[in-house]
Amino acid sequence: MIASVADDVARTLARVDVAAARETYWRQGEFLVLERLFPESLAARWLDEVARVRPAIHRNYIPKHKKGGSVSHHTLRAEAPSILALYHAPAFTAFIRAITGRDAKPCPVRDPHACALYFYTEPGDHIGFHYDTSYYKGVRYTVLLGLIERSSSRLVCQLHRREPSRTPVDLSLATEPGTLVLFNGDTLWHAITPLGDHEERVSLTLEYVTDARMNPLKRFVSDMKDAIAYFGFRQVFARARGDAISRSATGKGGPF
Ligand SMILES: [Fe+2]
Repeated sequence: MIASVADDVARTLARVDVAAARETYWRQGEFLVLERLFPESLAARWLDEVARVRPAIHRNYIPKHKKGGSVSHHTLRAEAPSILALYHAPAFTAFIRAITGRDAKPCPVRDPHACALYFYTEPGDHIGFHYDTSYYKGVRYTVLLGLIERSSSRLVCQLHRREPSRTPVDLSLATEPGTLVLFNGDTLWHAITPLGDHEERVSLTLEYVTDARMNPLKRFVSDMKDAIAYFGFRQVFARARGDAISRSATGKGGPF
């Protein structure tokens, strides 16, 4: 089954005009959207795993910045093999490299953001404008994949904000199931607008980095930010020590 996820991902990406996508990515200041890239059959497998990990959602509220839920890489490694299969699919990593022109790789296992789900399930859930700042020595790329979109929330972005010679461009996007967004986290200024009543939005993010080294001070800042703003101290620091805190019946982590 996992091999078939990787194969299906490869088949999907083989249909993409990579040269055109690369040109668009760079023309838009390292930002690319491919609407409904992945077919419903693949998204359905990922949605099964979204349902499975819902009991593990960790919710956070930081006034004036964010409100919402997340499920970390550590939980997904234990319970979401089809999502992890996408993250590590050779064709997918090759695609990221082909678009960005850089030798990006999946982030280290200890990184709770490496492959994580973000749940907007309660009225007002949102995240304010920010960059996905890389604490790594290398460039970090974010892939955002829409999985559930039954909301008036939008991914709002400003392109070219850090390019003085270019005019900023504002965008507002619904991330429908299977839609892929790829960007350089240090260049895209972006937010998710607040969820309305009786709405739901779930997205997956995958992070790739060109150099995964990190100095100890940045490591500490990154861990604290992840613990407070996203996943909780237990997820972040137990994993940083290498403890096993899987919720799975076997108590073992995933294959990656
Ligand atoms: Fe972000």
